[in-house]
Amino acid sequence: MMRQISSLLTILLLTSCQENPFYSAINCQELSLDMQKEKLARIEENYRKNSQDEFKVLLLSDPQTRPGHLDKTVLRLTENNDFAFAMLLGDLTENGIAREFDWVCTSLKKLNIPVFPVIGNHDAIGFGKELWQKYIGSYDYTIDFLDTRMLAYNDNAFEFEIHEPNFDWIADNVDVEKRNIVASHIPPSVDVHTQLEVEKFISNLESIGVQNTIHGHHHKFKYWQVQEGIKHHITSAFQKGEYYSIMTVKRDVVEFENCYKDTCWKPTLLAY
Ligand SMILES: [Fe+2]
Repeated sequence: MMRQISSLLTILLLTSCQENPFYSAINCQELSLDMQKEKLARIEENYRKNSQDEFKVLLLSDPQTRPGHLDKTVLRLTENNDFAFAMLLGDLTENGIAREFDWVCTSLKKLNIPVFPVIGNHDAIGFGKELWQKYIGSYDYTIDFLDTRMLAYNDNAFEFEIHEPNFDWIADNVDVEKRNIVASHIPPSVDVHTQLEVEKFISNLESIGVQNTIHGHHHKFKYWQVQEGIKHHITSAFQKGEYYSIMTVKRDVVEFENCYKDTCWKPTLLAY
């Protein structure tokens, strides 16, 4: 109920302005995947020049309705960060409207590193789908950095009338010469998916050599592994406060830290 009231207030506030809040242009252009990939290529060149083979990725998630928490976190991390890039794991917006994308984009610009957004269920309501395709890019895409390939995929089943993530796309786009990490808003757990779909999808990911998955949506940190298989990580939400995670990709291992403001800790790996 509180969320519905908050959505209604957002819409009422925006409709009181002299513009159409639902499908006007996103003024901030920096959410574009193409633009972010160009920036990342320049950063990768520097890593190669300096023979750096380890890198850190900032993980952000679910700023919907709390752009202020995102902005404070960004300001905290703007100086002296050593992240190669960031992943924003979905639900940038609550209602999929242009102004919400603008708020998030305007904050992210201050980070001065490429940020790659993953589509969330809330981003696909209202005019979110059209805005995403016009100003951000594909729902499914890959990023390469050094010896790692990131694969971002859309698994928002209810908003897209898909029932399972597009495994064929993932299988076609893994790079067998690299470490492959997959990213989606909704984790491979029973939520919009059935237990059977989850088991099948995880088994498919294992069969193509995926070792790590990263997600948002549940608004709580979680790090788990099923029978010594893939390690899954969920980043907490800005909806809950100034939370974020750090993923460190080393030669032989991927490590996670969870953070609140300036304090970070290593998560316990839960076994199922
Ligand atoms: Fe969500």
